Amino acid sequence: MEELLKAPFIKEIARTCSNMYRLGWDERNAGNISLLLEDGVINEYLDAAKVIRVIDIKFDASPLLGKTFVVSGTGKYFKNVEYEPEVNLGILRISGDGSKADLLWGLSDGGGPTSELPAHLMSHIERLKVDPLNRVVTHCHATNLVAMTYVHSLDERTFTRTLWKMSIEAIVVFPDGVSVLPWMLCGTESIGRATAEKMRVSRLCVWAHHGIFGAGKTLDEAFGLIETVEKAATVYTTIMNSRFLSNISDEQLRILADTFNAPYRTDYLDPVIKAINV
Ligand code: 13P
Ligand code: ZN
Repeated sequence: MEELLKAPFIKEIARTCSNMYRLGWDERNAGNISLLLEDGVINEYLDAAKVIRVIDIKFDASPLLGKTFVVSGTGKYFKNVEYEPEVNLGILRISGDGSKADLLWGLSDGGGPTSELPAHLMSHIERLKVDPLNRVVTHCHATNLVAMTYVHSLDERTFTRTLWKMSIEAIVVFPDGVSVLPWMLCGTESIGRATAEKMRVSRLCVWAHHGIFGAGKTLDEAFGLIETVEKAATVYTTIMNSRFLSNISDEQLRILADTFNAPYRTDYLDPVIKAINV
């Protein structure tokens, strides 16, 4: 059997957590991450019949029955994941009637999975419906993005348009735009359900005054989405009180998206008004 601590997916999650921490998006225990493992892959590393303990996840994750995830632990610090993966991460397999999870590895100090597990698993369920290759959901407190939610309209179209205009490749990286939820109590099933609903249409969901959720096929994709949003939000917060002398036009956004074959939300750009010759 291969050594789990040397598994590429454990190393990559640890690297991703460290990167997010160093970017200042995961103070203290902020942020959480989940990675859906390919069916059967875990058998290369451990005896999947050996369950360490059964965790009551208290919500219905039955569409994921039998699926195995690496998840971060609640109260754990992203900065520590690379040094003690076995304490800060857990490997869970959804079991029972879908409201239980078998702990197969990790959370070795007796801790539980992230308090945002409903948002993670419900988002996985919805993303898999639109993209069967989706594997990652991650959440962090990206600083400028959080700042932006205090001073910008939370209307999704308006919010997305601003971000698209603040960074040249934003529309190409997230043509599906960003969804936005108003302030809601975190760590609950209801914020989980609301997030998952938004994940049907976009891979990014902003939690006003809190942070962001991103989803993707790979850790790099989910990370890169958040990185690009945060870059755009940083430009916005830097210049928001300045007098704009120029801006990226809707027409330029359209040209960018078309050139890079990005399937963008056409309703998020203003319609082209054709001049009528009379
Ligand atoms: P956890 O420590 O439970 O993962 O919570 C961190 C967080 O960011 C809550 O939104
Ligand atoms: Zn959070």
